[in-house]
Amino acid sequence: MSLRAATCSTGVPALPPGPPYACDALHAWSGLAFDLPPADPRLRALHDGGAEPTAPLANLVGAGLAWERWPEHMDFLEPSSPMYAQKRAERALYTERWERHVPPGCRVLDLGGGIGRFTQWCLDRGCTVELVDPDLRSLRAAVRHAVGRPGKLDVHWATGETLPDLAPVDVVIAAEVLCYVEDVERVLANIRRVLVPGGPLLCSVEGRWGWAAAYDAAPGTLDALLGDGVVHVPGDKWVRTYDRADLERVLAAWTVEELVPTHYIPCGAFETAAGPMPLVDMMKWEERLRAHPMTAPWNRAWMAVAR
Ligand SMILES: C[S@@+](CC[C@H](N)C(=O)[O-])C[C@H]1O[C@@H](n2cnc3c(N)ncnc32)[C@H](O)[C@@H]1O
Repeated sequence: MSLRAATCSTGVPALPPGPPYACDALHAWSGLAFDLPPADPRLRALHDGGAEPTAPLANLVGAGLAWERWPEHMDFLEPSSPMYAQKRAERALYTERWERHVPPGCRVLDLGGGIGRFTQWCLDRGCTVELVDPDLRSLRAAVRHAVGRPGKLDVHWATGETLPDLAPVDVVIAAEVLCYVEDVERVLANIRRVLVPGGPLLCSVEGRWGWAAAYDAAPGTLDALLGDGVVHVPGDKWVRTYDRADLERVLAAWTVEELVPTHYIPCGAFETAAGPMPLVDMMKWEERLRAHPMTAPWNRAWMAVAR
């Protein structure tokens, strides 16, 4: 449901013409703890601290706890966040390949957009962004980070499975999302419904082998590494990891233009050994690790361009 339906115990400021809304006219919304009607009724209970009704929704329970305990980690678009530099470096690995698919001023769906890491980048390109995410706290942060930027924005408290009826979009970004959803086929069918024919889907998922060697691998999840690849920590996280064939299978109805292993260094297996380094050097190292037969399978993520 659009920002148009937002409520707040202290009242909501007037909205500029829209939706979508010019971000340079949203200053009064910065930092507002607005509420929205959720597209999936289970999201309200999860937001209020309820347990996950199905395993994949454990991520939303984990997110709620993390917002309570480590807000500075969750809000990594704040320059003071300990995650700020890393998340920007990760974003650069994607945007280096995705930039040519996001023409300035186009209409974008940022599915599972979280606090707006890619929304912010699109807005700065003058794009109009529809940001959809099942975590209301993230949507509030995304609005705060959007205020004053050049593009236009609307936000929706929904999942990919319950994607709202949106006017057609030119591009869909689903960065690190399809590996967390309950029903990936339904999500991809919904993306098809709103994406203009022939428009690009820019997506990424967690890599099958690289996650277990990363510093943030959950203790006690080795079974998943040599088992079915589904990492599940009840009340905290759930992720289906992908190898190349898994992603090709999921995207079988799409024309896959690019499918690239990525994230060997940031949040990946070789981050510690790499140490801090300028982005330009990290990009070169990513190429080398991707090209070497021994390190190539240790990618933390896959990124794809599909139409
Ligand atoms: C790893 S974060 C990525 C956030 C953002 N795309 C980025 O790259 O910074 C995964 C996001 O997927 C969202 N998510 C989880 N389940 C989802 C679903 N079923 N549909 C859409 N988004 C979902 C989460 O709330 C979270 O914001």
